[in-house]
Amino acid sequence: MVPIISAYGAAAGQRTNPRTAEARLEEAVGLANAISDLEVVYSNHFNLRKYRPATLIGQGALDEVKQHITEKGIKLLIVDHALTPIQQRNLEKALEIKVLDRTGIILEIFGERAQTKEGRLQVELAHLNYQKGRLVRSWTHLERQRGGGGFMGGPGETQIESDRRMLQQRIKSLEAALADVRKTRDLHRKNRKRKPHPIIALVGYTNAGKSTLFNRITNANVMAEDLLFATLDPTLREVQLPHGDTVILSDTVGFVSELPHDLVAAFRATLEEVIDADLIVHVRDIAHDDSDAQAEDVKQILLDLKVNTGDSSRVLEVWNKIDLLPAGDPRRESGPNFTGDGAGFPVSAQTGKGIAELIEHIERKISEKRTVLSVHLPMEELGRLYWLYEHAEVLNRVENETDGSVLLTVRVDPKNGPEFRNKFGSFVKTDSEDVASTAA
Ligand code: GTP
Repeated sequence: MVPIISAYGAAAGQRTNPRTAEARLEEAVGLANAISDLEVVYSNHFNLRKYRPATLIGQGALDEVKQHITEKGIKLLIVDHALTPIQQRNLEKALEIKVLDRTGIILEIFGERAQTKEGRLQVELAHLNYQKGRLVRSWTHLERQRGGGGFMGGPGETQIESDRRMLQQRIKSLEAALADVRKTRDLHRKNRKRKPHPIIALVGYTNAGKSTLFNRITNANVMAEDLLFATLDPTLREVQLPHGDTVILSDTVGFVSELPHDLVAAFRATLEEVIDADLIVHVRDIAHDDSDAQAEDVKQILLDLKVNTGDSSRVLEVWNKIDLLPAGDPRRESGPNFTGDGAGFPVSAQTGKGIAELIEHIERKISEKRTVLSVHLPMEELGRLYWLYEHAEVLNRVENETDGSVLLTVRVDPKNGPEFRNKFGSFVKTDSEDVASTAA
C-alpha cells in the first residue's frame, strides 16, 4: 500500500513545471499504479510556501501524512519530487516507513519494463548510482536481491562503508558486463544494417497511446511478424506498408517529465532505435489537459538524445485520442488535409480513425527520402559491391554472363547520397537521372 504526496508550487521560482497540481498528482498516482504490486490508498498534494531542507514538507503536512499511515497501515510513501538523501532519510525516520521520490519510482518502472539484458543492466546501474548517496533505509533493487537484509536494519557507519564498497564493486562489474553486451548488440545492429529497412520509432509521453497505435499498425497488417533477432527488444516489428515498402516499427518506453538525466544517458543505447530512426513518430495524447507540457518534455528528451525535433522530414507529430475531443474541435480534422505545419496528424488509435491515412502518410514520407537507381558495375569493379550491400538496399541484381558485369537496382537513403555519388557516380545508368537529387 502506498500513499503519494505531491509537493507542489513551492517557493516561487524554484519550480517552473507548467502543470497543474491535480494533473501532477494524477500522473504520480498513475506512475505508482504502473508498478505491479503497489496499491495507492491515499494521495494528496501540498502547496508548500518553502522547501524544508530537512524534510521537504513542513510539520503540519508531515503530521497529516503520518496519521494516514497509521490509520491505514501504509508501507510505502512516494513523494513526487526530488528528495535529497537527507530528506529521504529524515522522512523515513519520522514516518517509520520506506520513502521513494520521483526518481526512485521512475527507476522502479524502468526496472519492471526493461526487457533486454542490456536494459536490465542499465537500470541496475542507474539504480546503484542513485543509491550511492542514500545507503540508509531505502527500498531498492539491491535490497530485494539481498533478500531484504541489506539496508533495512538501520546499519551503522561500518556497515554503510562496507555497503558502499560493495556498491562500488557491483557498479564496476555491471559496467564490464554492459560493455560485453554492447559488443554483441553492435554485431546484431551491423547484421540489421545489411538488411536496411527504414526504422520508424514511436515515442511519446507515458499513456499517450504508443502501444495501442503500434498494435493498430502492426495488426492492420497481415504481413507483420516478429523479428528473428532474439536479443533485440521484442517491441520491434517488421511491417509491410500498403505499397510494398517494408519498415521496422519500434515501440519505446514511455517518457515522463523529470526523467533523470543520467537515466536518459544510461538509456541512450536502449533508445538507439530512436536515435537511428529514419522517422520518429511523436505520439501525443491531444485530449490531455497537459498535452503541450507533455510534448515539451518529450522534445527535451529527444534533444538530449541529439535528435533535431524541428526537422519535419524526420519527426512526425501524431495527435492521438481525437475521439475524446469535443465534436467540432478543429484538431479532429483528419488525414488528407494534414499539412504538417505546426499541426499533428490526427488519429484515434482506439477507434482506428485516421490510421489508414497515417500509414499512407508515413509510407510517402519514407519513400520520399529514398531514391531508386540502376548501377552497372563492370567485372573489375565488383569489389565495390560490398559497400552497396552494407549501405544501400539492393532491390535487384542481374549478372551478365558474357562480360561478368552486374546490373543492380538499388535504393539509397539521402544520408548516404554523397558517399554513394563518390563511389558510384560514374556507374549509375544515365536513364536514372536521380543521382544529383540523391546527393543533394
Ligand atoms: P506507456 O506504456 O505508459 O508509455 O503508454 P502508451 O503510450 O504505450 O499508451 P497505451 O497504448 O498503453 O495507452 C494508454 C491508454 O490510453 C490505454 O488505456 C489506451 O486504451 C488508451 N488509448 C490509447 N489510444 C487511445 C485513443 O485513441 N482514444 C482513447 N479514448 N483512448 C486511447
